Amino acid sequence: MDARPIGVFDSGVGGLSILQALRAELPQEHYVYVADSGHAPYGERDPAHVIARSQAIATHLVRRHGIKLLVVACNTATAAAIELLRQEWPELPIVGVEPALKPAARLSRTGRVGVLATRGTLASAKFQALLASLQDQAHFALQPCDGLADAIERQDLPAIDALAARYIAALSAGAGEPPGAIDTLVLGCTHYPLARAQLQALAGPAVTLIDSGAPVAQQARRLLQAGPGLA
Ligand code: DGL
Repeated sequence: MDARPIGVFDSGVGGLSILQALRAELPQEHYVYVADSGHAPYGERDPAHVIARSQAIATHLVRRHGIKLLVVACNTATAAAIELLRQEWPELPIVGVEPALKPAARLSRTGRVGVLATRGTLASAKFQALLASLQDQAHFALQPCDGLADAIERQDLPAIDALAARYIAALSAGAGEPPGAIDTLVLGCTHYPLARAQLQALAGPAVTLIDSGAPVAQQARRLLQAGPGLA
């Protein structure tokens, strides 16, 4: 086995939800995790900031740790920077995270899907292209969640509860056009699975929450199996 580590980064602790899925899928691998807490949160910052941070962290992981694969464990950084990272490191297999709209559309029975994500992710061209490609498959109600990743980062439970309640309520109100109840909720920021219990309690038992951990880990496995040059 190639003993070089897999590099994983996020603005903070959110990517640990992805790391958990990676370790379940690829338990024999070594990992180096960078939490960019000094420059977080990414989701309400200028994309140029997120691009600069992503490039600096990728450079550190390649030069300092000799990684064999990079996982951008952040929806916001993937949307802003993954194309540029692939141009800069053409030999390095890179896996990104995108909000799980496709599986949500397949799973929803009502055809009404809620999406919680950062402002940066929702505004990105990458997300807008994904949304446009699925317009005929479901109605997506989008909810930017300013402050929620930051509250999760700080483990501020009262703030997490208050913000989660506000955003779930706004989503339910906004889902009335066209009318119909959301039965599927996409956690489109890697921090949000860390508040899954609170979000599930607020959304109710009839709503299925979906994150991107398992598909990201499976894609990492596929790229490793494809080997150098085939990624
Ligand atoms: N965890 C990140 C994401 O998936 C960003 C959170 C933040 O720093 O705003 O989008």
